[in-house]
Amino acid sequence: MELEKGVQRWIVDISKWNPSPDYFASVMSFLPQHEHSPITRFVKMEDRKRALVSRLLQYALVQQVLGIPYDEIIIRRTVEGKPYLEYDDKTGTFPNFNFNTSHDGNFVAIASEPVCLVGLDIANCSIPMKESVDKFIQNFLSYFSNLEWSDIMKADSSYDKLNRFYRYWCLKEAFVKAIGVGVGKRLDNVEFHHSDWNDIFVIVDGTEFNNWRFWLLEMGENHLVSIARGHPATATTNYRATLKQTEFGEKEYKLGLNLPSVHFMFRMVEDLLPVSIVACHHYMDRIDIVSEDGE
Ligand SMILES: CC(C)(COP(=O)(O)OP(=O)(O)OC[C@H]1O[C@@H](n2cnc3c(N)ncnc32)[C@H](O)[C@@H]1OP(=O)(O)O)[C@@H](O)C(=O)NCCC(=O)NCCS
Repeated sequence: MELEKGVQRWIVDISKWNPSPDYFASVMSFLPQHEHSPITRFVKMEDRKRALVSRLLQYALVQQVLGIPYDEIIIRRTVEGKPYLEYDDKTGTFPNFNFNTSHDGNFVAIASEPVCLVGLDIANCSIPMKESVDKFIQNFLSYFSNLEWSDIMKADSSYDKLNRFYRYWCLKEAFVKAIGVGVGKRLDNVEFHHSDWNDIFVIVDGTEFNNWRFWLLEMGENHLVSIARGHPATATTNYRATLKQTEFGEKEYKLGLNLPSVHFMFRMVEDLLPVSIVACHHYMDRIDIVSEDGE
């Protein structure tokens, strides 16, 4: 089904990508100028890599799924910072094509959906070094409902406590990122329920959001990834304005809500560059090799 092509999950392991400064700059030059300063504002190379790959993923995915050439893609951000694609889908194939990226630790990822809102979060589940697990978690008490907090606290070991903490955290982030809220959203009223982290659902201000679905996956060592898929009417006013369709009949909406979720596909940075440019680079590399041989 054509609609299913709008469901994409791509991930890059940036710990394996160590570009020289020149190569980094040449990769960045494939992006429009306005995307450069949000990358170079970071001092640490690891942060620059995350910001660059986050943007490359967005352009490459749009190019692949919608067939828009790299240099014609227009990605803007809402005032809350959530990126969205500006495009006019005359075919109506993907009524609400939207995407969300996340980066933490070794990974940068993107998820897209054709009908529902999508929110993505990666959590690098690091162990606190300067304080005990209890003290660390305590700092975030106000983000959790009483039920979530007691579930975290009743874990048998510090490791398990931390693990539960990150799982709830990751789910909350995916939810707020799907609706497009920035910093400052109250989250103790966003309460997650699960059966051993399957059949996950959310209750917001006492109401179950049964037109949402959530997934929580383990990725590599010590990373969690969560995906939220939900109703466009729940988005912030600004993000809702970027969507084509926010009202659906039940049957029509269920078609989008129940699309199969796909596995994450691992991508290399080179896979994300415009195809013609990669071909050109290979050609230039070959010319370099030939000239080094003095031929
Ligand atoms: C903006 C925010 C959503 C980003 O989350 P984060 O965990 O710091 O970062 P992530 O790596 O998951 O996501 C960053 C990406 O999300 C996207 N993004 C930025 N603002 C966004 C927003 N308001 N909504 C959705 N996505 C957003 C961007 O693509 C960004 O990457 P880029 O700038 O490199 O392109 C976050 O700062 C925030 O406000 N979180 C909610 C607040 C909160 O209280 N969280 C506690 C959870 S218990």
